[in-house]
Amino acid sequence: MNDSPSSVAVSQKKSTQESAALGRPAGPCAMVIFGASGDLTQRKLIPALMNLSRDNLLPRDFAVIGLSRRPISDQEFRRKMGDALREADDLQPDLWEKLQPRLFYMSGDLHEPATFAALRDRLHHFDREFKTAGNYLFYLSTAPDLFGPAIERLGESGLTKEENGRWRRVIIEKPFGRDLESARTLNHQLREVLQESQIYRIDHYLGKETVQNILVFRFANGIFEPLWNRRYIDHVQITVAEQVGVEDRGAYYDTAGALRDMVPNHLFQLVALIGMEPPPSLDADAIRDEQVKVFRSIRPYSLDDVSQLVVRGQYDKGMINGKPVPAYREEPKVPRDSHTETFAALKLEINNWRWADVPFYLRTGKRLARRHTEIVIQFRRAPHLLFRNTAITACQANQLVLSIQPEEGVSLRFGAKIPGPVVQLGGVTMDFDYAQRFGNRPSTGYERLLYDCMIGDPTLFRRADMSELGWAIVEPILKSWEKQGNDGLMKYPAGSWGPEAANELLAHDGRHWRELEECK
Ligand SMILES: NC(=O)c1ccc[n+]([C@@H]2O[C@H](COP(=O)([O-])OP(=O)(O)OC[C@H]3O[C@@H](n4cnc5c(N)ncnc54)[C@H](OP(=O)(O)O)[C@@H]3O)[C@@H](O)[C@H]2O)c1
Repeated sequence: MNDSPSSVAVSQKKSTQESAALGRPAGPCAMVIFGASGDLTQRKLIPALMNLSRDNLLPRDFAVIGLSRRPISDQEFRRKMGDALREADDLQPDLWEKLQPRLFYMSGDLHEPATFAALRDRLHHFDREFKTAGNYLFYLSTAPDLFGPAIERLGESGLTKEENGRWRRVIIEKPFGRDLESARTLNHQLREVLQESQIYRIDHYLGKETVQNILVFRFANGIFEPLWNRRYIDHVQITVAEQVGVEDRGAYYDTAGALRDMVPNHLFQLVALIGMEPPPSLDADAIRDEQVKVFRSIRPYSLDDVSQLVVRGQYDKGMINGKPVPAYREEPKVPRDSHTETFAALKLEINNWRWADVPFYLRTGKRLARRHTEIVIQFRRAPHLLFRNTAITACQANQLVLSIQPEEGVSLRFGAKIPGPVVQLGGVTMDFDYAQRFGNRPSTGYERLLYDCMIGDPTLFRRADMSELGWAIVEPILKSWEKQGNDGLMKYPAGSWGPEAANELLAHDGRHWRELEECK
């Protein structure tokens, strides 16, 4: 039998693909959650593990250890997680009964080598007790300033070393850096300790079904791809609108802002999925190579471009669902003179053969009229207006809308004749609604990502070059805004669709944002 390293790698890859395709339980492993007493663990990670258990995808030989500083017992940790599930109405009692005995807790400071020595002992004990086979998934669910020190300590402890067929993988939460330089530094710190194949930079947007469906929609259907280019598409719009304000995250948010928080990661990931060429295979790097090509083709902004092509706004007081809400500067822990943006809109150009002259307009913000994420593919008008001398009430170009949240689905708008003796055209839509067609299954969006990490499939995670390219694209914007301070920061009333300048960005090109109030 040939068991050279390359044949081992090939056979590992094959079994990964097979597990994923067949939906088999992942192989044995222990999962360590750093920052286990935090919000993400109880709201997303533990419910995701429970849902994976529902779908029979959790390893049969499995144990979880949560780690943070506060001294609580295993029992208290389980109770806290159970209470959180109950409060969120997420508790599935039979699944919880199965998962609960596999949850453990240890207290420790991530700056301290002693924490990692104790962790190593605990994990070795798991290997014996739960047959976790020395395979460890470390989830860094802490504030970002702990990512570097925790990884360094983890490396020193020897826990990241892969040998004798054992794997060691690390999931890193967002934000991955706050600009190009800090992202590079973090990547450097990671690479001092880990191989790129051990690093899983998470973008939870990629855990959403509808986002994953973009690849299937584009590349498993023969009819869309021939139209997916500058010849038929006029422009693309991506909206990620939140209705909530900064809630209790004012202190963090004020150091980030809408652009850093959303654009180089989530929005660019959507741009890549829409803009990429068909990959030669479903291999993780084949897909990510194509996405990187999109980032490399985005026309860099010059400092002068920023005022023309980018809009920033900050919410003022206003009304949300009929109730008055405060201005951003009145939120807790936000400086009264803050010039952090809570809204950003930008026009991107992708300079390649497929997309030349097809602008991508992106917008995201807080305290907008409603929570809604969608991608709009706006097709060109029919080349010859045959119906122009008839009683036309509406003759709009075709539009394909991929709705991501809260509704998940796809709709296609086209013109149809309104019944009656005169020729009248109206816009109609053909709708596919995920929940209606497939039913609602409780999901946090983290299930697939955790499972993929357990089976070693990094397709839906960001590679080092992707995270750095994302920052490189927005770097001139960050620099220009830093120089401008308050100048150019537009106020918008909470409950609106952002500053008027965001509408002018499209109006300048003879276009407009899709009217969101009109959709269901
Ligand atoms: N919450 C979300 O919905 C969400 C969504 C997307 C991304 N994220 C990202 O996920 C990460 C975690 O978010 P979160 O909301 O869960 O944060 P969080 O509620 O502030 O939790 C942070 C955790 O880190 C622990 N911790 C702090 N210092 C520590 C130290 N020196 N040693 C060991 N543990 C330490 C804290 O517990 P102790 O004080 O007991 O040590 C706490 O358990 C962040 O990077 C965030 O940006 C969160």
